[in-house]
Amino acid sequence: MTVQGAFKVRKLTGHIGAEISGIELSKAIPEADKAALRDCLARYQVIFFRDQHLDLQQQKTVTEIFGPALQLPYVTAMDSEPEVIRVYKGADEKGGVFGGDWHSDFSFLERPPSGSVLNAHTLPPHGGDTLWASQAAAWDALPAPLQELLLGRDAIHVGKPYGVKWAPPVNEQSGAGIKMSRGDPTADEERRHPAVLQNPVSGRRMLYLNPTYVTRLDGLSEAESAPLLDQIQRHVTRPEFCIRHSWTPGTIAVWDNLATQHYAVNDYQGHERLMYRTTFSGMSPRAMAAIPEKPGQAAAE
Ligand code: SIN
Repeated sequence: MTVQGAFKVRKLTGHIGAEISGIELSKAIPEADKAALRDCLARYQVIFFRDQHLDLQQQKTVTEIFGPALQLPYVTAMDSEPEVIRVYKGADEKGGVFGGDWHSDFSFLERPPSGSVLNAHTLPPHGGDTLWASQAAAWDALPAPLQELLLGRDAIHVGKPYGVKWAPPVNEQSGAGIKMSRGDPTADEERRHPAVLQNPVSGRRMLYLNPTYVTRLDGLSEAESAPLLDQIQRHVTRPEFCIRHSWTPGTIAVWDNLATQHYAVNDYQGHERLMYRTTFSGMSPRAMAAIPEKPGQAAAE
């Protein structure tokens, strides 16, 4: 446990996650503490605050500690709060769950969110955990040939769950509790982002890949990319790079969306779960591209 500014920080695993205590997010936060919270997010990639019970206005205020709150396409926001998505699964809903596979939020946008905030409201009696994986720790431990293949190379991202060409089968789609625009051909548009990012402040490099939205690596076909992306994804989600969070009502999680992937566990059939999600903007992935330091490090075409 360390004391940072007015609050305490408890690191939760070797590579990712910290719990912050001794702070009431519903109260005004001094600028120095806001800066310390941004530092914590950069260092731990996902941070948790238990027992906060924020209303939506308070959640937006907390979101803006980290960056301007965003309105996202394809998922219908709350009428009263256009920056808030109601992540709800009803007790009678079958099939998939929103965020129920490894992803970084909306990485297929030209300016994906820099981070997200999840506010636990109603929880099932068991299950409904969320996992995060550190793409920074995964980069550090990635075998050198794969690092060389990825550094300086783009990956192609597509809004597959919302589009036509790659849309998931109906029985895997999340249910009626969350309103998504599906079958929208604009979501099939390909976007290129660097496969490896570098934090401009810490200099730390991180993968920026995920199986929900990435279709291939630039310069390779989908068929050529698939075994490589599968191998990298198995590496990213090794348990030592992950944290699994068991929610309690009123907990707030804030994560660095460019440094992590996350996964909502769909194991609470017959029970309802309600979370409120906001996202915030920051640097574009392109502005954070990791640049090869010597010619041999450039991705081969
Ligand atoms: C999300 O993918 O943002 C939702 C995560 C969750 O509901 O646990």
